[in-house]
Amino acid sequence: MASPSIILSAVARRLEGKVALITGGASGIGACTAKLFASHGARVVIADIQDEKGHALCDQVGSSIASYVHCDVTNESHISGAVDATVSKHGRLDIMFNNAGVIGSPTFRLLDSDKSNFEKVMAVNTMGSYLGTKHAARVMVPARRGSIIITASAASVEPGMTPVAYTCSKHAVVGIVRSAAAELGKFGVRVNCVSPYGLATPMGFKALGMEKEELEKAMEEKAVLRGVTLTVEDVAHAVVYLGSDESKYVSGLNLLVDGAFSVTNPSHGFL
Ligand SMILES: NC(=O)c1ccc[n+]([C@@H]2O[C@H](COP(=O)([O-])OP(=O)(O)OC[C@H]3O[C@@H](n4cnc5c(N)ncnc54)[C@H](O)[C@@H]3O)[C@@H](O)[C@H]2O)c1
Repeated sequence: MASPSIILSAVARRLEGKVALITGGASGIGACTAKLFASHGARVVIADIQDEKGHALCDQVGSSIASYVHCDVTNESHISGAVDATVSKHGRLDIMFNNAGVIGSPTFRLLDSDKSNFEKVMAVNTMGSYLGTKHAARVMVPARRGSIIITASAASVEPGMTPVAYTCSKHAVVGIVRSAAAELGKFGVRVNCVSPYGLATPMGFKALGMEKEELEKAMEEKAVLRGVTLTVEDVAHAVVYLGSDESKYVSGLNLLVDGAFSVTNPSHGFL
């Protein structure tokens, strides 16, 4: 029987030997997840359009563990190239974290919204997740293993808290997760998404026009779960779980990290 210390170290390094590709990895949830993945023994490839931030993060994590690739997720050849670069550098891809996203125009109402913003938000949030899922599956299926994770949002199940384009884009992400999980299960590939409530990241600052403390206070006032503040670390821990073998029989799940916000149907007061 394994000694308690062996069990403890296995739990402490939950992604040992795994290789992960993280889109939108230069900032916010993606950057925090990249650091947490590395601390759990994974090698990470950060894919983003913010090159300076991406390179700085790699320096911080360590160049033997983290590397950066410029990748606009709306461009299929960029996504395909990022997947191929990961496999050629590390020989495998175990975790694809499709996390890149934009809030788009902060205009909430359908009647005030415009088509070009809708297309842009769908292109990054939905098309980018679709392309990342498709190209990760391309290399995971022959390997007969892999975990694909997408960052959706509490807006994937709860309308009214974000602009219409964003809400639609995140609902659609759940459709990608469920279709891909159904199709790829027979190849040993799992597909899930993680859906946070609002939290302090550059996207949150842009969406609400607030800085960290003001944003956290505003979110807490509308939250269901009280006495705690949702942080990027909380989301990253959920992603580690979905990427690790601890979730080896979990697929097709929309893991809500929203403190029960979406199950209560409160009157949000966002509109
Ligand atoms: N912050 C929140 O309140 C919140 C809540 C729920 C879900 N989310 C989701 O979390 C994910 C991460 O966002 P965040 O909150 O960490 O914000 P963020 O702005 O800190 O990070 C988003 C990252 O995506 C990158 N990105 C944007 N467009 C891209 C493109 N075309 N190609 C590649 N990369 C691109 C950005 O450069 C940035 O690094 C997003 O999918 C977002 O929708 C955020």
